[in-house]
Amino acid sequence: MIPTSAPKTLALAGLALACAAAWAQPKPALLNDKKAFVADLLGQMTLEEKVGQLRLISIGPEMPAPQLEKEVAAGRVGGTFNSVNRKEQRPLQQAAVQQSRMKIPMLFAYDVLHGHRTSFPIGLGLASSWDMDAVRKTARHAAMEASADGIDVTFAPTVDISRDPRWGRTSEGFGEDPHLVSQVARAMVQGFQNGSPAKPDSIMASVKHFALYGAVEGGRDYNIVDMSPMRMYNDYLPPYKAAIDAGSGGVMIALNTVNGQPATSNTWLLQDLLRKEWGFKGVTFSDHGAITELLRHGVAKDDAQAAELAIKAGVDMSMADQVYLKELPGLVKSGRVKMAVLDNAVREVLGAKYDMGLFHDPFRRIGKAEDDPADPKAASRLHREPARDVARRSLVLLENRNRTLPLSKSARVALIGPLADTPIDIIGVWSAQALPAQAVTLRTGMAKALEGKGQLLYARGANVTEDKAVVEYLNFLNWDAPEVVQDKRTPQQMIDEAVATAKQADVIVAAVGEARGMSHESSSRTRLDLPESQQELLKALKTVSVATGKPLVLVLMNGRPLALNWEKANADAMLETWFAGTEGGPAIADVLFGDYNPSGKLPISFPRSVGQVPTYYNHPRLGRPFTPGKPGNYTSQYFDEPQGALYPFGHGLSYTQFEVSDVQLSGATMARGGQVQASVTVRNSGDRAGETVLQLYIQDVAASVVRPVKELKDFRKLMLQPGEQQVVRFTIDEAKLSFYNAQLKRVAEPGAFKVQIGLDSQAVKEGSFELR
Ligand code: NOJ
Repeated sequence: MIPTSAPKTLALAGLALACAAAWAQPKPALLNDKKAFVADLLGQMTLEEKVGQLRLISIGPEMPAPQLEKEVAAGRVGGTFNSVNRKEQRPLQQAAVQQSRMKIPMLFAYDVLHGHRTSFPIGLGLASSWDMDAVRKTARHAAMEASADGIDVTFAPTVDISRDPRWGRTSEGFGEDPHLVSQVARAMVQGFQNGSPAKPDSIMASVKHFALYGAVEGGRDYNIVDMSPMRMYNDYLPPYKAAIDAGSGGVMIALNTVNGQPATSNTWLLQDLLRKEWGFKGVTFSDHGAITELLRHGVAKDDAQAAELAIKAGVDMSMADQVYLKELPGLVKSGRVKMAVLDNAVREVLGAKYDMGLFHDPFRRIGKAEDDPADPKAASRLHREPARDVARRSLVLLENRNRTLPLSKSARVALIGPLADTPIDIIGVWSAQALPAQAVTLRTGMAKALEGKGQLLYARGANVTEDKAVVEYLNFLNWDAPEVVQDKRTPQQMIDEAVATAKQADVIVAAVGEARGMSHESSSRTRLDLPESQQELLKALKTVSVATGKPLVLVLMNGRPLALNWEKANADAMLETWFAGTEGGPAIADVLFGDYNPSGKLPISFPRSVGQVPTYYNHPRLGRPFTPGKPGNYTSQYFDEPQGALYPFGHGLSYTQFEVSDVQLSGATMARGGQVQASVTVRNSGDRAGETVLQLYIQDVAASVVRPVKELKDFRKLMLQPGEQQVVRFTIDEAKLSFYNAQLKRVAEPGAFKVQIGLDSQAVKEGSFELR
């Protein structure tokens, strides 16, 4: 992975030469041969130094920076995470390459998920774009900003398939579909690494959480995962594999169990599947404290056994626990863990450092002190333009009755709601180094758009929630500066002000949803509706809307699908904006006022209620399926609610209309190794230019095992001018028909296949052909 010009770079870079000279053990002469270089280093290391390389430490109260520096100088640390600027990193790197005996550079990791200093839309938002250039662009900018802060590795992308919106980390992933999530996973890795993690402005990806974290039982974080191998292989594993095939240098191991064995001690997962079957050659990281947690899972009786299980399973670096440090030397000395097992882990850590170019130049991302930014937090370091561009692409128009949107810029607009002006929320969770103060809220974005023309009136209208226990929970990590700040007025006082404000306007825009912390790690919910305080507000605004005819537009900010039954029935328009990032406000305003025609599509189904979960569109077929229009007593359904998702996977409207013709197939049969072309003509029959996403679904009509009702296999994003039409052709080959059968062999079985093409997963045109 090292560019061939590396030795020349080394010869030219004064800084690198200075470091190399001060640095005895790694042999510059071997630098061009990774295997020999790493083997030579390994051969010189003591047992304690090897164990030190497996330690990933977070600077914090337990390990203040001066103590950490001493540990590094003693050769007892391989890397840190959560130190996020060059000034913090430099002394640690100096301690490593100038003071430690082996002079092995440190690696610096961080959770860079949807941006670093500039926040881009959260995972669900990125996936809603169905635009892989936009996804790559996000990861590329995140990598440029993070590497400029001395970061080498990101714990991203999060590619856990999630079909249960109660799970708070649904926000972080890319939705429910194996194909779409795999595409996004690949694009993220490409963006972070940009061809090689050795490039100074690249960071190494570590796909997470391996594996199946999104399937925690009941959507409750850290709960168990129990799943059939076929479901694993067909639905949940493909995104991790896609990231690895795209070159992800690292893998983070999940906190959950996988069929009775914690991922952290799961030899099948980490050896047989990851290394042997998939050929992964990079480094594995435990998740935070996961090795210690083996005791609590009840598979290890003490720390020594936890360390033994983890290292034998294949956990290379241990994150934020002392178990490896304390136990591995003794385990190796007593023979319970073979030196070769320890060496395997150390080899991967050294190999990753080599791949990131750290042996060529340990300061390649930290740079020279004289080049440090005067103010790392300076607004000039942000990338606002791409953030706004990607944010616009991530917005999903759920509803637009009577063409309520776009709004006129000469209107008097009442902007109301607890999320209209909270910069902390719009940057989303996992916002890395993004500063709320640098984010542009919806209120500011809309005010700017209306400047000199219309008028913006504002009222907060409600707190996100009045539930004190929830507020306390959301603020529990931030006692000094609580994230959720309650307005001290009574709910009625706030509603009265909102109603009075709404009455003065031509149109009411309500920004409602979740505080960002409601969709986070450890933030599972039992409910999927808007908190009562916001429901009350919306009802009051609806009364104004009905009495006066002023349209009611909802701008939703949330990190998971919500059950929006009342909202769907009562809003004139609804725009799902997720948490859209630093430039979220202007991006949403661009869509509300028609400067940008929305084209986002849902990457996950929206249920009607919690009781209906899961509502994923690609569920396996049933012997007694519910048939719309023919309700029977003995079909699979909930009798007390309409069937099917409230908004299906792939749904998203535009300000123009698109018509999709019938499906044309190039043949009625496909020979083995052959292809069938499926084409449709898409026409923009409206009066505005616009983009849409054409989606290809396939159903295996009769297979050796039960297969899904349909599965997304391809998609195409296209832009059409008014009146323009385009023929879109999808190539269907055996790969698109194949699946893992009961023997976990990937096969395409002969027989009939249905081909469905449409603008969402439900409204589709259908054809069929046969694989011979
Ligand atoms: C725990 C989270 O599960 C993981 O995603 C994250 O990378 C680590 N903490 C480090 O912050």
